[in-house]
Amino acid sequence: MRGLDDLDVRGKRVLVRVDFNVPLHTDGDGRREVADDTRMTAALATIEELRAKGARLVLVSHLGRPEGRPEADLSLAPVVEHLRELTDANVTFAGAVVGDEVKALTEGLGEGEILVLENVRFDPGETSNDPEFARALAALGDLYVNDAFGAAHRAHASTEGVAHLLPAAAGRLLEREVRTLTKILEDPPRPLVAVVGGSKVADKIAVIDRFLDVADVVIIGGAMCFPFLCAQGHAVGDSLCDDEDTEHARRALAKATHPGRASVDLPSDLVIGDRFAEDAEHRVLDSVEVPTGWMGLDIGPATAERYAAEIARAGSVFWNGPMGAFEMAPFAAGTRRVAEAVANAPGVTVVGGGDSAAALSLFGLEDSVDHLSTGGGATLELVEGKALPGVQALECARVAG
Ligand code: 3PG
Repeated sequence: MRGLDDLDVRGKRVLVRVDFNVPLHTDGDGRREVADDTRMTAALATIEELRAKGARLVLVSHLGRPEGRPEADLSLAPVVEHLRELTDANVTFAGAVVGDEVKALTEGLGEGEILVLENVRFDPGETSNDPEFARALAALGDLYVNDAFGAAHRAHASTEGVAHLLPAAAGRLLEREVRTLTKILEDPPRPLVAVVGGSKVADKIAVIDRFLDVADVVIIGGAMCFPFLCAQGHAVGDSLCDDEDTEHARRALAKATHPGRASVDLPSDLVIGDRFAEDAEHRVLDSVEVPTGWMGLDIGPATAERYAAEIARAGSVFWNGPMGAFEMAPFAAGTRRVAEAVANAPGVTVVGGGDSAAALSLFGLEDSVDHLSTGGGATLELVEGKALPGVQALECARVAG
């Protein structure tokens, strides 16, 4: 895959696909503001390198899922405001996605200056990967750089189609994400411990399956431990657990008994509540037999210590998904203990986006891991072993002219 070193960008208009799909909130005066700029700061390495090399930058991103038409709440205007605080560059907002006026704005850009297009999903041609729309995007740049790892699992016009129309390369973030995640799957320092949490086994079964093949230990936490416990014959009370998930869990447990597969670690104690609420009645259960009328909402303290010790012994750790309902204080301790263990682990630590990233930042530990992925679905699909269309397109992209 070509990188920034393979492009001669000086004086050229570089169309840069970034993933500025960030959470927004509304302030007291009704203004929309960026609530978490992790993905934006992660893209700065590429943006500033291109600026320093004299490129004229045209940034492309989606925000939310507007279904092919403009939606005021999903305009990139607040994101552009925020970008102005992160860079010294002259940043202009195009206010539209493609067209003659936008093209004229790209032509007026000076070296090191930035033009940001409006939310690319305001055009229906984006998600349908319409060739005509891809051509309209390509007309806005001389070169194409994809740094939107978080959107690399989408075969859209700005992530896939346009890569075939311009000399293309990967940005620094996308390159690092692919290199780090691939390394932990293919050549990890051993033992490799995968910590998988969250609520639905069905959503993560392909990830669990992959780690049963490549890891040494798979630690299970979060509500998804109940289908596993149920498959082993334990009572799960009112915990989240359905037949489909239990079947997935049963198969994963059977696979783990085969030679050469990872072992599966499950909770041996729990924190239970009488309902899913911050003020629920709650207590530590010294076993995994959940009484009727109660639900498991966190791993117990003994389990948390056992998991932390396993993480401390690891040569590498991949963590995706919380250990419990960590957003509610009575059920946060298990996720906090695992987050601290990952943050302090001597081995290589990789955290796969989404809720685990939110947990790390809640506990102030986001800077203490080796790699915090900016991808959600993209990270999971790469781990599952699926080809990412955004990455594939770069692999067969044209050589820079
Ligand atoms: C994400 O938030 O995972 C990426 O930005 C992709 O967004 P999407 O799921 O709406 O394609």
